[in-house]
Parts: sequence; structure tokens; C-alpha cells
Amino acid sequence: MNKSVPTFVCPDGGALSAEMLAAYEDAGVIILTDFVSADACAALRRRTLELIDDFDPSTVDTVFSTQTDEHQADEYFIGSGDKIRFFLEDGAVDGEGQLKAAKEDCLNKIGHAMHDLDPVFDAFSRTPELANAVRSIGFRDPAIIQSMYIFKSPRIGGEVVCHQDSAYIYTEPESCVGFWFALEDATIDNGCMHFIPGGHESPLRKRNHRYADGSVLDEVLDETPYPMHLRQPAEAPAGSLVIFDGRAPHMSGPNRSEKSRHAYTLHVIDRSCHYPDDNWLQRGDDLPLRGFDS
Ligand code: FE2
Repeated sequence: MNKSVPTFVCPDGGALSAEMLAAYEDAGVIILTDFVSADACAALRRRTLELIDDFDPSTVDTVFSTQTDEHQADEYFIGSGDKIRFFLEDGAVDGEGQLKAAKEDCLNKIGHAMHDLDPVFDAFSRTPELANAVRSIGFRDPAIIQSMYIFKSPRIGGEVVCHQDSAYIYTEPESCVGFWFALEDATIDNGCMHFIPGGHESPLRKRNHRYADGSVLDEVLDETPYPMHLRQPAEAPAGSLVIFDGRAPHMSGPNRSEKSRHAYTLHVIDRSCHYPDDNWLQRGDDLPLRGFDS
């Protein structure tokens, strides 16, 4: 029988129990329900709406494609590692450069440094419970390298093809782990993530490089296909935290429902590992990496 994605109610204090840790290490992913309160989710959503109010889409023409690498040559995207920037969905702009719907409904995501630049995002990202969860899975000197607010809007939220996050947030040795918060219920209907449980034990398939000429390209490291028949949905009620290994193969379908699927993701690396200069995601010296200290 195929393994499903292990799901537990959030432990008191946030640190994973021995049973949870064993399940996470076996599957490369774990869902912890009730990790954050409805109030905390609502506060992050309110703050996001304020940021969107201040965003002028006419200043931007970046569309974030999750199926091609079109965005990768774009300075607005590759320069966003220490900024708060807004990325539109495929098909959100008409032939005259106008948005086809309300701003919020046209966005794919906001990234990639809200956790360091915005006080509300900072507070959400640096709770004692999250710090305990991070330490309990083995981090010694954790740092939050990026944050993303993901919209997955009704009807237009796009598909994300199967990938491993360590391809994009690569360290030597690998240390990237994703912390994905469901701000709204994530279901099969509105495009929840899917994982291949145990797939984190398989090779890293790609490594993404940023070259001196500004181009960003994937290097194929291993051509082993993903065993897609083993994929399992990671349905996550609002308030859940999904923790997943940087090598865990994951994906999500399009949102064809009438319900949005807002989520907030942090990626954490260990500062004891080498972070290469040719990772696409970089930040200036004026915004040093921070861990979970306040
Ligand atoms: Fe991912």
C-alpha cells in the first residue's frame, strides 16, 4: 500500500515528539494541524491585503510561471531575495497590459523577504513554537532564507510541477527545509500540495545556478524519474504547518474551485552549511540572515 503523508495534531510547544520525528524522517514530510491560531492566520492575511493595496501593478510585468523558467531571466524576480515583490499569475494581464481581475485575484505570490522586512510577517515567522519545531528536526544554527505568500486564487491558481526545493535553495551539505502554513483549508479541490512520501531518500534531480550574465538555469544532476504513481495529497486544514525536507518531491494541481488556497512558506537553512554564490536567491549585506531570535 502507498504511504500517506503523516498527520499529527501539533505538539505542545511545537517540538516534534519522537514518534513525529520518526514519521517525518520516514516520509520526508509531516503535517501538524492546529500549529497556528485562526487569529494569527487572519492577521497575516490582513497585512497582506495592506501590502497589496500599496502595490502598483503597472510598475511590474513579471508573471511567475511555475511550469516554465520564463521568470528566471527577470531582474524583478532574481533581485527579490531581499525585497517584498509581487508576482502575477499566468494569464492575469490582458493584451493591453491591464489586469483582468482584482489585484489579489491576479497574484501568484509575494516574495521573498517579508519575514525580515515587515513586522507582522516577522512576528508570524519567529514564534517560540516554530523555533522549537525547527530545532527538534535537527537544525543547530537555523536561518530563514526566504518567505513566500502564495495565493492559489480561485479558478486561476496555477499548477506547480513536481520538484525538490533543494534544487533552488542549495547548501553544502544540503540543509533546506520548507515550513508551509495553511492560512486557509488546503484541499484536493483547491490545489493542495502532493508529496511522494519517502522520495526525499532519492537523488537530487536538478541544481539551479545563477550565472554572471544574469541568466538562471537548471543543471540536471540525475535523470531518475519521480515515481508519480506514489504521490499522495497533503490536505491541510487552516492553521496547519507542513514541514518537508528540501529533497522531498512535491507538486500541486491548479485551483479550479471557487475557493482560494492562501499559504505562507518559509525556507530554513543551517548556517553551518556553505551557501553558494550562484544560488539564484541572494541578499545584500545590509540584510543579514536571521534565525529565530527576536
Ligand atoms: Fe516547492
